[in-house]
Amino acid sequence: MFRLLGPLTGWPSRRHSVRGGVGPVDRMAESPRSSDGFFLGSIIAKSLEVSIKQTFSYVLFLSTSTSLKSIMAITRVFVAGATGTQGGALARHLRAKNIEVHALARDIASQKAQDLVSIGVKFWVGDFNNKSALTIAITGCDALFLNFMPDLTNLSAEEQWAQSILDAGKEAGAQHVVFSSVYGVDQTDKMRWFDEKAAVAEIYASKHSIEKIVKASGYATWTVLRPGYFMANCVQPFVQFMLPGLAETGELITALRSDTVLPLTDTKTIGLFSSAAIMQPERFNGKTISYLDELLTLSEFIERLSQAVGRELKITYLSDDEVEAQRETNPILGGQLVTRDMAQFANLDQVKSLEVPLGTFEEYLKREREAVNATYNKSS
Ligand SMILES: NC(=O)c1ccc[n+]([C@@H]2O[C@H](COP(=O)([O-])OP(=O)(O)OC[C@H]3O[C@@H](n4cnc5c(N)ncnc54)[C@H](OP(=O)(O)O)[C@@H]3O)[C@@H](O)[C@H]2O)c1
Repeated sequence: MFRLLGPLTGWPSRRHSVRGGVGPVDRMAESPRSSDGFFLGSIIAKSLEVSIKQTFSYVLFLSTSTSLKSIMAITRVFVAGATGTQGGALARHLRAKNIEVHALARDIASQKAQDLVSIGVKFWVGDFNNKSALTIAITGCDALFLNFMPDLTNLSAEEQWAQSILDAGKEAGAQHVVFSSVYGVDQTDKMRWFDEKAAVAEIYASKHSIEKIVKASGYATWTVLRPGYFMANCVQPFVQFMLPGLAETGELITALRSDTVLPLTDTKTIGLFSSAAIMQPERFNGKTISYLDELLTLSEFIERLSQAVGRELKITYLSDDEVEAQRETNPILGGQLVTRDMAQFANLDQVKSLEVPLGTFEEYLKREREAVNATYNKSS
């Protein structure tokens, strides 16, 4: 308080005594001396006016910078799903910056959890339904990263998990929240094959609802990130349900089309975007960002993958009739039909303008050679 009052009392007189300064008050103090009381009075009045304005800005700056400082000083982050693809990528980025990472683990002894423990991630045992585990894990966290794999036995669970984490975050005094959603959740009417009755519709509705909850949650800052189609879908564990048949038989049977454009997103980029959004709340505040690395058609994607695997991978396209016949019994098809229209939500130029380094699928395949070999060439 005294530091704020200081300039109010001391500033005008000190600035009048300064010679050769550059501010408007200084220039006026050096203007021709006059015995004209009105002139002197107006100088003083003008000086005071300017000083008060400057002081007001200074106070405003101090109060704004104090609140920004408390938002920006991210030192401890709760990461939902740290043992998973998105959460794991973020946790590693944050640990590399020496930021504390708190998380829940359903199985603390798992290799994924232990790898993260070895780089300093702190785990509490529990799942997202365990409110007391969440409260303890979130204590002292400045920021929250929300990302959920849908529970196929309860598709509305994600919303409850998000609410529990947001509630615990509020109690802990967290100020910043980042939610990782999916492309086009608010524009499903633009997806030509979107099936309101499919499981994917419920998943999209849940994610859309969480976006709205996050925006209205009263946190000082929030960001919604929407990653594109994972490059990691071509390797275990995603390949089984994203590109079924491909790893086992070398043949993908799909509802996608050869010219379906995939907004490919590297796990590395997920880590970069998530950590940028977590660590720079004021830069990403209020933004919903659909991001990606590169646009490739399904044929180009499989071509590049074949080169990396070292043999030709085939694609068999389900006919429209076959898709229609299998739609109700095969939940994977719903996701593929949504993927057909995903690229319309990608804006690579806009993503590039955010200056987060992007990669290519070829770079991903080179870097993840081991995972590719383990998925496709089990004997090698
Ligand atoms: N594949 C794509 O192309 C794509 C594209 C855009 C968005 N997405 C979205 O990405 C999301 C999945 O993210 P991801 O790939 O990071 O998932 P992931 O790799 O499967 O990881 C899921 C994480 O959540 C944890 N988890 C799951 N259920 C839990 C529960 N009930 N309580 C506590 N922890 C729980 C898992 O922990 P455990 O280690 O205990 O299992 C794991 O850490 C999905 O919502 C999907 O829609 C996917």
